Amino acid sequence: MAPAVIETHALTRSFGPRRGIIDVDLAVEPGQIFGFLGPNGAGKSTTIRILMGLYHASSGAARVLGLDPLGDAVELHRRTGYLPGELAVYPRLTGRQVLDRFGSVRGLRDTRYRDQLIERFGAEIDRPTQTLSKGNKQKLGLVLAFMHRPELLVLDEPTSGLDPLLQREFVALLEETTADGRTVFLSSHDLDEVQRVVHRLAIIREGRIVVTDTVEGLRRHAPRTVELTFDHEVDTTALGRLEGVQTSESSDPRHLLLTITGPVAPVLRAIAPLDPVDLLARPADLDELFLGYYRSTELQEV
Ligand SMILES: Nc1ncnc2c1ncn2[C@@H]1O[C@H](COP(=O)(O)OP(=O)(O)OP(=O)(O)O)[C@@H](O)[C@H]1O
Ligand SMILES: [Mg+2]
Repeated sequence: MAPAVIETHALTRSFGPRRGIIDVDLAVEPGQIFGFLGPNGAGKSTTIRILMGLYHASSGAARVLGLDPLGDAVELHRRTGYLPGELAVYPRLTGRQVLDRFGSVRGLRDTRYRDQLIERFGAEIDRPTQTLSKGNKQKLGLVLAFMHRPELLVLDEPTSGLDPLLQREFVALLEETTADGRTVFLSSHDLDEVQRVVHRLAIIREGRIVVTDTVEGLRRHAPRTVELTFDHEVDTTALGRLEGVQTSESSDPRHLLLTITGPVAPVLRAIAPLDPVDLLARPADLDELFLGYYRSTELQEV
């Protein structure tokens, strides 16, 4: 197997109790689009800043493109396209001046691809960056990240502020990027958007990774809902005792709602003798699973 493009082991950064990131393990393979999801304050930007050598870790290890993010920062930034969560670049310079500065630092001579990107995203490049709207800053940030065709893109919430048409354009750009064999690591809040583009994803909550899987793998474990209708009274306690099954009664005692997160066969066997007159099954709900991972433990206890 090719060496991982991003690899972290027990990466930890504390800013005080209950803040920062704890024991983050990540492995991003070449050519992948890897999604990094989690609620506000979960630790996405902190992790990304460590990967880009902008924060030091309190403990643990990170290698990016085989490099040490702090020690090899110059080479790392040359070979990577980084889109920060909040673009803060020379507020008084115009977008064009910023692009030229970054371009010359990176030794970018052929600007055709850059100009295509400007056109494609309709980036506003003739005004001082401090006067740009959030969306227009984001477009400039995307051009900055992609213009030198880096082998790795590290994008902190790349689509925040983009309108739906540009979000689509962005997805197309991601697909072109990985078709070249290049790698993308992106953070997001939007499961819907992420599940359409990523090969793998990790969910972080309160500084810890709670799951890493493919979208397909997640879907296999996502809850399914089954609604049963009876024409007689039934004793459903046996169903409720099955592993991975939650029952919720409705106001009508002849209706029963099951949420199944485990294997379905044992549930079907337990249902059959109850003699339902109807059964309605809904497909796996990734949203529900995702929200389950999102909800903080404190909220769950309430
Ligand atoms: N420089 C800092 N000083 C103190 N605390 C910080 C610093 N940077 C991050 N934190 C804390 O670390 C935790 C993780 O923050 P981080 O910005 O990584 O979250 P995030 O997942 O990117 O959230 P969001 O979705 O809102 O962008 C938060 O509790 C945050 O307050
Ligand atoms: Mg963030």
